Amino acid sequence: MQQITRRPEAPVRLRRLRRTAPMRGLVRETRLDPQQLIYPLFVRGGKRVREPIPSMPGQFRLSVDELVAEVGTARRLGIEAVLLFGLPAVKDPLGKGAYAEDGIVQDAVRALRAAHSDLVIMTDVCLCEYTSHGHCGVLANGEVDNDATLDLLARIAVSQAAAGADVVGPSAMMDGQVAALRRGLDESGMGHVAIMAYSAKYASAFYGPFREAADSAPQFGDRRGYQMDPANVREAEREIALDLAEGADIVMVKPALAYLDVIARVRPVVPVPLAAYNVSGEYALVKAAAQQGWVDESRVVLEILTAIARAGADLIITYHAKEVAGWLSAR
Ligand code: PBG
Repeated sequence: MQQITRRPEAPVRLRRLRRTAPMRGLVRETRLDPQQLIYPLFVRGGKRVREPIPSMPGQFRLSVDELVAEVGTARRLGIEAVLLFGLPAVKDPLGKGAYAEDGIVQDAVRALRAAHSDLVIMTDVCLCEYTSHGHCGVLANGEVDNDATLDLLARIAVSQAAAGADVVGPSAMMDGQVAALRRGLDESGMGHVAIMAYSAKYASAFYGPFREAADSAPQFGDRRGYQMDPANVREAEREIALDLAEGADIVMVKPALAYLDVIARVRPVVPVPLAAYNVSGEYALVKAAAQQGWVDESRVVLEILTAIARAGADLIITYHAKEVAGWLSAR
């Protein structure tokens, strides 16, 4: 067989496929689609309340009626999935508001389900927004008690599923939480409800604005005793393998932008959909710089989300979701 060799006078010209926008579109390797975005929303009590969150410009603490309206707007732009966080009126050491039948998230889920029968409704399963001490589990001797917390996490998930959630997202970083939720859901006749596990969730300073939004900063200590050390990546593979073994339907890396290597590293060993959480601090940095006129907001946001997808994320949870959907449809 004769070898086909390049003529020495024909140098490599990668610019040929970059000449025009349609040409670039033809050969683009990573595409963003509003259908892969998940829009996180904060819900609180009251009526007609749209309370701005100072550290997250463009995001609000919404009463249930306003939440329904906001989701209507987002859906018209092509967003089909939301992730709910609740801001209860009162907090206590056991986080009872998280698993109350008339809890704020449960109310919100019922209202959204009534208005949008096929919306993908995801809920966060954690105690930190509901506990007076701000930790993600219950305390025993000044420490977060793993196994005592598991029962409560399962109760939260079951109550959210009973209200109509499609996907529950355990984010407390307790060992065994996915198995506890799966068992609780199955024993309650909620076998159809999926689990999106916050598997590789790091103890990150990028959650700062969220904790202001949810008033959920720990009252003592920090979360390093249960969330992952930012220096570790092999451990992320172990967390993900365990959650898959426990029955996770979707696994997540969180935060996203400073952890693109983690996303890329775990991708080959994740046979289920992989989600990445573009967290509050990442959002706040972009918004602040854009407000100063220092960066072009839409281009920076699209570049960041494209990078998260390029690293290997199938789903992206982002506070930019609604704006991005608008930009993508205007292109
Ligand atoms: C609850 C939870 C947190 C976030 C999502 N779920 C806060 C935390 O762990 O402190 C952070 C999300 C964000 O920063 O956007 N445990």
